[in-house]
Amino acid sequence: MSRARSIRDADLSGRRVFVRVDFNVPLGDGESITDDSRIKAALPTIRALLEQGARVILASHLGRPKGERKPALSLRPVAADLAAKLGQPVAFAEDCVGAEARAAAEALQPGEVLLLENLRFHKEEEGNDPAFAAELASLADAYVNDAFGTAHRAHASTAGICEHLSPCLAGLLIEKELAYLGEKTADPDKPFVVILGGAKVSDKIAVIDALLDKADAMLIGGAMAYTFALAEGHSIGNSLSEPDKVETARAALAKAKERGVRFLLPTDHVVARGIDFSARTVAETKGVEGDIPEGWEGVDIGPRTREAFASEIASAATLLWNGPMGIFEIDACNAGTFAIAQAVAEAPGTSIIGGGDSVKAIHQSGYADEVTFMSTGGGASLEFLEGKTLPGIAALDPA
Ligand code: 3PG
Repeated sequence: MSRARSIRDADLSGRRVFVRVDFNVPLGDGESITDDSRIKAALPTIRALLEQGARVILASHLGRPKGERKPALSLRPVAADLAAKLGQPVAFAEDCVGAEARAAAEALQPGEVLLLENLRFHKEEEGNDPAFAAELASLADAYVNDAFGTAHRAHASTAGICEHLSPCLAGLLIEKELAYLGEKTADPDKPFVVILGGAKVSDKIAVIDALLDKADAMLIGGAMAYTFALAEGHSIGNSLSEPDKVETARAALAKAKERGVRFLLPTDHVVARGIDFSARTVAETKGVEGDIPEGWEGVDIGPRTREAFASEIASAATLLWNGPMGIFEIDACNAGTFAIAQAVAEAPGTSIIGGGDSVKAIHQSGYADEVTFMSTGGGASLEFLEGKTLPGIAALDPA
């Protein structure tokens, strides 16, 4: 597993430090930030660097502007939010490279902060263009990566830049993500219970495969459970599934059996018809055991399954949860996901939430403060749990 040298092991006082953060936050109307968790998660690193007397140059992407300057994806609102959180001014440069960025970086005094405009306004960022990476690097004389959510991307600001700067260090958030998603799940306190949900077996099969080597129990919900149901010969009505992944599901079931992993699939379901995603409504729901009748679609795990899953969760010493149990965005289909959120929050074991929709769900359920760790990564946490090397971590100085 990758370990990187941390900012704890370096003295950056007085230095101009390029800090790659993940401020890819959802923006609502009027540029309001609808979820500031990623900004909050970067604060410990920013504060630690400021306390050391570093000159902090923050850089991030926001959305996917694909190399175009899109005003709606400007990081300017984030500068204001960050200034309020830090209780000090945050300078803002209208571009991440060029004369204005250079002048702003040069003007920074120890203990001051500058935020650069969206890196992805330049297509060279995602292209990991060497000249662009060199230009970003020229703003600073040390590098810190704290953007765990983007660590699975080999971009100029996460990978190429480390060819030009030294030291290249991990921030405190990356350090914490590696400790929980990495160390705690590599050698977990037992029993280790993994809860996986989400729509597609194809998105999660690599994680299922990797975690079957370590888990004592694996609980499967979400639409991917219907592909497993097909593999077990059940009817699934109109439920979402991937018929071409039935063999993959069968192979996972066989591996679980061979390794003695308790593999729990839903035994009952909430089914619905007349789902209107834009209005977030369903015309009708009912509970069914076992097979799902034609004309109905599985939208959540049923009460028996919730109970069975909750009892596994209560007995775990380590818990890892990634992916919702149903269409939790619609009120009529959120009971299963929220029941799992409650069970995870109340469980005495170490609880790790693997990012993305499950983090959203645990926030909505009101249990976010009661879990041990919530990852800021979506795709990054999945790839990390699959055992892949993340380019943004590999580029850093080794521990
Ligand atoms: C995320 O939101 O998962 C990260 O910020 C990465 O964003 P990306 O998928 O657009 O690279």
